[in-house]
Amino acid sequence: MDSIDQFAKVGTEAALEAGRLLMRHFRTKFSIAHKGDINIVTELDVAAEKLIVSRILEAFPTHSVLAEENHPDAARTRFTWIIDPLDGTTNYAHGLPFFCVSIGLEIDGQVEWGVVYNPNLEEVFTARRGQGAFLNQERLQVSKVSPLGASLLATGFPYDIRTSEQNNLGYFREFALTAQAVRRVGSAALDLCYVGCGRFDGFWELKLNPWDCAAGCLVVQEGGGRVTDFSGQPSSIYGGEFVASNGIIHDEMLAVIQSV
Ligand code: IPD
Ligand code: CA
Ligand code: CA
Repeated sequence: MDSIDQFAKVGTEAALEAGRLLMRHFRTKFSIAHKGDINIVTELDVAAEKLIVSRILEAFPTHSVLAEENHPDAARTRFTWIIDPLDGTTNYAHGLPFFCVSIGLEIDGQVEWGVVYNPNLEEVFTARRGQGAFLNQERLQVSKVSPLGASLLATGFPYDIRTSEQNNLGYFREFALTAQAVRRVGSAALDLCYVGCGRFDGFWELKLNPWDCAAGCLVVQEGGGRVTDFSGQPSSIYGGEFVASNGIIHDEMLAVIQSV
């Protein structure tokens, strides 16, 4: 077993354990706090993060963690785990079964491995740089759909949608008029995995955090797709804006973005 296999084993087990915790409490009574007008956090976001962080640090005490709820500004070291304990919190709080756990592992500044677990469908997406992406052990790949007019896209909106003009509504309008259809399902990590496995043909979003996309971007790339920023440059998980696609429709998507 090489060291990435060991990291992957601990990371995957932590994601599965956290997903099961989320499912045990799904549609029960739990406390909800507001981080902003429409940005909420449930007690399960916090509990799932605590569980994942403790599993990782027990196994690898010298690694660092960057995690949404209690470690959002952690110093990065050679090995940094990037964790969204519950992506799709609004869905979770409303009893809508579309959410996941996302964990990526950055080594020397590059995401080398990631897992996204959707406990509602028992789907585990994993990716390792240079070695492909998998859905429950089966290799996955992006769709071959084109052109943009025949494509199914996904996106999401930032939590400052009510107060910022950079709220994605302009891009949404243009894509709604040019793609076959656009979906807003509420989990960026799953949106990216769905591009990776060909259920969506493309995705764009702005103001994302690294924990939303660290694992999902690698799933897209290892599924044979392309991920860039809005100007077509290679994306950084810290850059906020993402266009992810099957590659074939990517330039058409960038052209729509640049037209807005
Ligand atoms: C959110 C979801 C949503 C996206 C938001 C994210 P959270 O993450 O991924 O789809 O549109 O930008 O913040 O808050 O559910 O972890
Ligand atoms: Ca998230
Ligand atoms: Ca979250």
